[in-house]
Amino acid sequence: MDKPIHQIVAVAKNGVIGQDRKLPWRIPAEWDYFVNTTAGGVMVMGRICAEEFGVGLSGRDMIAVTSQKDLAMPGFRMTGSIEEAIELGNASSFPGPIWICGGVGVYRATMPIANRLYISLIHQEFEGDTFFPEDWRTHFPIEVSRVDVEDAGVSFSKCIFERC
Ligand SMILES: NC(=O)c1ccc[n+]([C@@H]2O[C@H](COP(=O)([O-])OP(=O)(O)OC[C@H]3O[C@@H](n4cnc5c(N)ncnc54)[C@H](OP(=O)(O)O)[C@@H]3O)[C@@H](O)[C@H]2O)c1
Repeated sequence: MDKPIHQIVAVAKNGVIGQDRKLPWRIPAEWDYFVNTTAGGVMVMGRICAEEFGVGLSGRDMIAVTSQKDLAMPGFRMTGSIEEAIELGNASSFPGPIWICGGVGVYRATMPIANRLYISLIHQEFEGDTFFPEDWRTHFPIEVSRVDVEDAGVSFSKCIFERC
């Protein structure tokens, strides 16, 4: 049976998600939320995100998408397309959802097929060069939950949105 597909992201007030191939902030509570939420599932991400991880996280299946045929990355299964990544995710022995972890092209391509968006809305602007697709609310119009958090001097809301 197909697994649910969820996107997960943290977005600054100005839409920024990344800077120089890294996260533009260090917010331990947000990072812990990301790691704990995705545990036991399948994480799908682009090659640049996978490089940022270095080695994969334990306790979940990690799949990186790349056009480079012979590229290997420790802790990751490599695939040549998002469709193939989702097929691998559905067949994975890890029982949790398929978590779409970015970056931009991977988010954009899976917005029409994801059931839910787990989005941490960071209540301040950051400098950056990578932005979450602006039209995300048209794909996920229903707010299911919101929890306000403050950590490391930054406030953010952990929200879950769903499609209609
Ligand atoms: N704030 C957050 O929650 C969050 C989440 C995710 C990412 N980010 C940030 O975003 C930045 C990275 O994102 P990014 O958009 O620049 O890069 P990315 O999506 O991580 O990686 C792009 C690469 O992934 C591969 N790829 C993507 N789509 C593919 C497809 N359909 N078929 C085959 N290969 C595909 C290609 O690799 P090859 O070049 O090897 O072919 C492409 O160059 C970083 O700054 C990161 O910190 C932030």
